[in-house]
Amino acid sequence: MSGRTVLVTGASSGIGEATARAFGRAGDRVVLVARRAERLQQLAAELPDCLVVPADLTRRDDIARIVEAAMARYGTIDVLVNNAGLGRYDWLERLPEEEIRAQVEVNLVAPILLTRAVLPVMQAQGRGVIINVGSVAGKIATPTMTIYNASKFGLEGFSEALRREVQPQGIHVCLVTPGPVAGTEFSVRRKPTPLRVTGPRWLRTNTGRVAEAIVGLADRPRPRRVLPWPYGAMIALNTLLPSVVDRLVLRVTRRSRGNILRGPRVDPGETGKREKE
Ligand SMILES: NC(=O)c1ccc[n+]([C@@H]2O[C@H](COP(=O)([O-])OP(=O)(O)OC[C@H]3O[C@@H](n4cnc5c(N)ncnc54)[C@H](OP(=O)(O)O)[C@@H]3O)[C@@H](O)[C@H]2O)c1
Repeated sequence: MSGRTVLVTGASSGIGEATARAFGRAGDRVVLVARRAERLQQLAAELPDCLVVPADLTRRDDIARIVEAAMARYGTIDVLVNNAGLGRYDWLERLPEEEIRAQVEVNLVAPILLTRAVLPVMQAQGRGVIINVGSVAGKIATPTMTIYNASKFGLEGFSEALRREVQPQGIHVCLVTPGPVAGTEFSVRRKPTPLRVTGPRWLRTNTGRVAEAIVGLADRPRPRRVLPWPYGAMIALNTLLPSVVDRLVLRVTRRSRGNILRGPRVDPGETGKREKE
């Protein structure tokens, strides 16, 4: 399919950038959203037809401005890809409040508010596809990822309810559920320390494959796409036999995030002190 207007958040790097390119190759018009304007401009130079809208998704005014700009330029929004996100992994008691709020704001509240702003456009059109970028972390929770897990589990519930709410109006809601993705800035920007995308190859994916899956969902909407596919089996196992997965998760976490697991945990009262610093 081609000739659609596609709004992609988090288009300045990683999955969002690859997704914008993939829609551009498919012959679609792309609205590029993120805070780093210069990165969006560089990408725009390579796309046949696009609109750059620098915006901070944690600002309510920016969310309204994104939809206004897209409508002023193209008069339609056919596909919305809620992709922008961030992860801050640490023991809960060590996470400063502003980092807790930032994750929930960007990963959960922003997609909800942007979707709410785009819905009237899609309802008037009588069609549209909303694709939310979730994560395996939205189905399987692991130590030190409490808030990231909470935000992605929240996105799961939001997507499922909305899918059932708007399907009769001709609007599809899909979730893409990737495991670790190579080639993004997600792990580099992760605090307190960068996290390498590790694990066997069959449990990893890359930005190109996730982008392809997203374009595939826009062409033929379905509720969920998990990649790589073996995570589908793990998600089922986590639902049916959670205590078996408890043991597996701890083993994997020790290997990939040992630095955090071994790190000192704070004394009572320390969290308050850290926030004042
Ligand atoms: N990488 C993985 O292993 C992995 C696995 C599963 C799911 N995911 C999900 O995939 C999505 C994309 O992440 P990625 O891996 O591609 O990481 P990334 O390269 O760090 O991209 C994150 C994008 O989000 C944007 N963003 C962050 N805060 C924003 C804000 N306040 N306002 C507007 N844009 C904001 C960033 O742009 P600016 O900084 O320019 O604003 C950037 O374009 C996220 O939802 C993530 O949870 C990632």
